Amino acid sequence: MMRRPLVAGNWKLNGSRAQTTDLVAASMRLADQHDEIECVVCPPNVYLQQAVDQATGSRLEVGAQDASDHEAGAFTGEVSAGMLGDVGCSYVIVGHSERRERHAEDDVLVAAKFAATVRAGLAPILCIGESLADRDDGRAADVVAGQLRAVVDMVGATGFGAGVVAYEPVWAIGTGRSADADAAQEIHALIRRVLAETDHALAERTRIVYGGSVKVGNAAELFSRPDIDGALVGGASLDAEQFTAIGRAAGARAHPE
Ligand code: 13P
Repeated sequence: MMRRPLVAGNWKLNGSRAQTTDLVAASMRLADQHDEIECVVCPPNVYLQQAVDQATGSRLEVGAQDASDHEAGAFTGEVSAGMLGDVGCSYVIVGHSERRERHAEDDVLVAAKFAATVRAGLAPILCIGESLADRDDGRAADVVAGQLRAVVDMVGATGFGAGVVAYEPVWAIGTGRSADADAAQEIHALIRRVLAETDHALAERTRIVYGGSVKVGNAAELFSRPDIDGALVGGASLDAEQFTAIGRAAGARAHPE
């Protein structure tokens, strides 16, 4: 099986109508020139509709940065996965460390958001990753496996849908200090083993992407490792040239299995 590399840009709390127009245009060119990869942009919610409308007719896909674990009701400020699907999104990032830390999202809530996203017919991009303290204490593998099991145990192989796993070591996010490709590969292989505990086919087909200071200068090296199936890009996704170059590097990768 050949996993199609996925390159997704997480814009976080950045963007404007004008910047959305520019970044979506560049990402559409990338997606249409490279059908060997899947390309996704994840702008803030208020720009999703604009991005979807602009991307219509291209291979570019649009994702949200979060979704509610609820479908509807008295949940002020929340947006459901069903609504995101209704406006044309196909992906939702769930469990980003910035939400785990700043919005007290725990493994149970993240798993519920993951399940709600799959139920709505969208693909979750599940972020997991250890803190610097975890890594220094030699607990990186345990933390990552635990975060993943919390989701897999709740949804099972069938409820995983087209879910993607993003390994994002917290200490590498926005720091300019990416994980070394071999260290990242080690954790990606562990993630695939944990998926295989539930279902072998799930482990084989699921894309496991890396996130944390991915730049033009380290992308190709990361993508050369057998279990690194693309990237979730933060800062560099706000620069059309950088994002395009990272996408091209993902396209140069192939996974014979
Ligand atoms: P940076 O690429 O800015 O380190 O952010 C990574 C990230 O958090 C993507 O979700």
